[in-house]
Amino acid sequence: MVHLNFVLSTALLASLAAAWNPSNSYAPTNIQCPSNANFLTAASDGLSKDEADWVKARHNVTNPKLIEFLKRMNLSNFDAESFLANSSLNIGLAFSGGGYRAMLSGAGQLAALDERTVNSTKDGHLGGLLQASTYLAGLSGGNWLVNSIVLNNFTSVQALQGDKDIWDLSDSIFNPGGINIFSTASYYDDLVSDIDDKKKAGFEVSLTDIWGRSLSQQFIGLDNGGPALELSDVRNYNAFTSHAMPFPIVVSVGRAPGSKVLSTNSTVFEFTPFHLGSWDPSIYHFTDIKYLGSNVSNGVPVNKSSCVTGFDNGGFIFGTSSSLFNQFLLQLNSTGVSGVLYKLANSILENIDEDDNDIAVYAPNPFKNAPVNSSISMADALDLVDGGEDNQNVPLYPLQQQARNVDVIFAYDNSADTDHSWPNGNSIGATYNRQFGTQGNHSIFPAVPDNNTIVNLGLNTRPVFFGCYASNFTTLRKEVDASQNDIPPLIVWNSNYPYSYASNTSTFKMSYKTSEVAGMIENGYNVATRGNSTDDSDWGVCVGCAIIQRERERRGLPPTDQCRNCFDRYCWDGTLNSTKPAGEYNPKVKFSTSGSSSTSEKSAGSALTVSTALTVALSFAVLMV
Ligand SMILES: *[C@@H]1O[C@H](CO)[C@@H](O)[C@H](O)[C@H]1NC(C)=O
Ligand SMILES: *[C@@H]1O[C@H](CO)[C@@H](O)[C@H](O)[C@H]1NC(C)=O
Ligand SMILES: *[C@@H]1O[C@H](CO)[C@@H](O)[C@H](O)[C@H]1NC(C)=O
Ligand SMILES: *[C@@H]1O[C@H](CO)[C@@H](O)[C@H](O)[C@H]1NC(C)=O
Ligand SMILES: *[C@@H]1O[C@H](CO)[C@@H](O)[C@H](O)[C@H]1NC(C)=O
Ligand SMILES: *[C@@H]1O[C@H](CO)[C@@H](O)[C@H](O)[C@H]1NC(C)=O
Ligand SMILES: *[C@@H]1O[C@H](CO)[C@@H](O)[C@H](O)[C@H]1NC(C)=O
Ligand SMILES: *[C@@H]1O[C@H](CO)[C@@H](O)[C@H](O)[C@H]1NC(C)=O
Ligand SMILES: *[C@@H]1O[C@H](CO)[C@@H](O)[C@H](O)[C@H]1NC(C)=O
Ligand SMILES: *[C@@H]1O[C@H](CO)[C@@H](O)[C@H](O)[C@H]1NC(C)=O
Ligand SMILES: *[C@@H]1O[C@H](CO)[C@@H](O)[C@H](O)[C@H]1NC(C)=O
Ligand SMILES: *[C@@H]1O[C@H](CO)[C@@H](O)[C@H](O)[C@H]1NC(C)=O
Repeated sequence: MVHLNFVLSTALLASLAAAWNPSNSYAPTNIQCPSNANFLTAASDGLSKDEADWVKARHNVTNPKLIEFLKRMNLSNFDAESFLANSSLNIGLAFSGGGYRAMLSGAGQLAALDERTVNSTKDGHLGGLLQASTYLAGLSGGNWLVNSIVLNNFTSVQALQGDKDIWDLSDSIFNPGGINIFSTASYYDDLVSDIDDKKKAGFEVSLTDIWGRSLSQQFIGLDNGGPALELSDVRNYNAFTSHAMPFPIVVSVGRAPGSKVLSTNSTVFEFTPFHLGSWDPSIYHFTDIKYLGSNVSNGVPVNKSSCVTGFDNGGFIFGTSSSLFNQFLLQLNSTGVSGVLYKLANSILENIDEDDNDIAVYAPNPFKNAPVNSSISMADALDLVDGGEDNQNVPLYPLQQQARNVDVIFAYDNSADTDHSWPNGNSIGATYNRQFGTQGNHSIFPAVPDNNTIVNLGLNTRPVFFGCYASNFTTLRKEVDASQNDIPPLIVWNSNYPYSYASNTSTFKMSYKTSEVAGMIENGYNVATRGNSTDDSDWGVCVGCAIIQRERERRGLPPTDQCRNCFDRYCWDGTLNSTKPAGEYNPKVKFSTSGSSSTSEKSAGSALTVSTALTVALSFAVLMV
């Protein structure tokens, strides 16, 4: 114990004394501002030119990939080549939050859509859909997945699974050295020195910085978790410049300190390699993400010779979208650990206001004095929190924006809504409700049933389509905004479900053995492919029908008999059964595993349980032996 203290304090002192190394530092850097800089763009101008140009070029890649994919799905009376000869479709993929459960289930779902996954283009599989997609959105645990792929040079799930250094979840993030106490000690040491670099450079730091650095060490395949890797660096990646990957979007929520948000009045923020901002009426602007951290007034640098880069750190954004988990770090303070590790943890935690412990601080505020419809323009800092805090746990909102013209969204919902951590549609319900609130902004989202109906009808045991027919929106449009005539995307909602593995692990389970990782990923693969089409030999056909439906409607073409048959089976037809269900699934619906490994937990957004504190206490107890 004494020896450990000695080693640690020496290392700590050494690192604090170490000279700041701007070349690979977590600290943002001061630069000369670009000439005539104005970092702000208005959402009223539609898609930014950067994104619009990028997407146009992406279509060059997605078009042939989509033709190839649709041909493999064998739709009858359908010629993919001529159908797509003069038009491009936009497919969006959305991965929900839910900690490592969501990351790993999502990984299996994403692997199923990725033509690089071995065997994924065989009959009954869906490989190639990722390559045919325009957008890839992630929130919280879903963003750990999306940005693990994107920030590691658009690597694949299989490559991550086979990597010794990245995605090693066998030891908790709080005790990454496992039994090797010295490696854990140096991990905390690196972490403290990274945060210190940013603080010394004059920036406010929050718990999210620490959380983000911890996550990076697990998710980024660079030394020390790539302390200087920025989201805007993706602009220079081969896979991005050659448009080989979909356009990544990370979702987070804005929140004033101490306030609560609901889906009807939250401000949904999105991060992309180009910008940070919101389509919501309260902001309706975007800022260039590369220059976050610069002092601006209405988007213009206050001091032309002093701008900042390096604030848009990849890890910080990992942390921002999943800031709910900051709670873990706070528990360190109350777990009764003593000794130098406690001091270390405490030195990190002091000066952090407990009420706002889940906030990521973006200061200086990039929207200072911006012409936005919110008090945010007056604030010195923009405060962002976990994307799931407004209960919209699936990142659908960016993909619903009319400017993006998305045809179909494949939504992977790995939330923990029920007592045993299965989804029941709460998240899509929250997104449906949003259109009627102040932040709805005329967006239309198809009708979805209440969560009891979802369970009673077994809709959380198989994929469901929402909004199959544009004609069904007539009533909704009248309620939301009769002057709008945009047709929202068709939603293919896929609920986490135990095919081959009890994938309802706790949101707060912090370590997974290799076999558990494999079980979760295989189960996700089965959810996306309906067991490689063993549950429905027409599943691939129905996926194809969902993809082309909006374009068919735009051309005034009715669905083929084959597609109508798919829609009859997969589209929710308005049936309700809101009686309180007896269980978490319709008992008449067969499912194979018991899900006994779960603990009782609600989705992101709810209070942490005592078991959380215990998890952390245990990690530290191990550490202190
Ligand atoms: C798409 O590909 C065509 C043919 O290769 C090329 O002429 C065109 O410039 C490309 N479009 C974009 C936006 O990159
Ligand atoms: C695509 O557009 C070209 C030029 O407008 C036209 O000649 C061709 O027939 C169209 N192809 C299809 C399949 O609609
Ligand atoms: C791919 O399929 C082949 C033939 O069915 C099988 O032998 C092989 O194990 C599969 N590979 C993987 C990684 O699933
Ligand atoms: C699609 O059709 C081809 C050729 O008829 C056949 O070989 C293949 O097995 C079919 N695929 C599916 C998924 O039915
Ligand atoms: C990124 O991946 C691409 C394609 O796999 C490869 O050509 C390129 O060298 C990689 N870049 C880096 C920096 O690893
Ligand atoms: C959202 O609505 C809730 C309930 O009315 C309220 O408590 C909260 O302060 C509102 N939040 C914002 C940001 O307006
Ligand atoms: C921004 O301006 C404020 C007030 O003028 C100053 O305190 C702060 O150091 C500046 N921050 C940066 C990053 O330039
Ligand atoms: C952590 O505990 C110390 C000592 O009890 C206290 O002074 C400090 O305010 C606490 N910090 C937080 C963030 O709760
Ligand atoms: C079902 O939805 C209602 C209304 O949105 C909500 O209050 C309730 O907590 C949900 N129940 C479960 C089990 O998620
Ligand atoms: C579907 O294929 C995947 C990958 O090839 C495999 O891991 C999984 O076990 C298969 N599922 C079923 C139900 O056969
Ligand atoms: C939507 O429209 C289709 C075809 O017009 C109809 O069969 C279906 O019942 C409608 N669904 C709902 C939920 O109204
Ligand atoms: C509605 O759901 C309840 C609970 O699962 C079930 O007992 C009842 O039979 C269902 N009613 C109908 C009309 O399907």
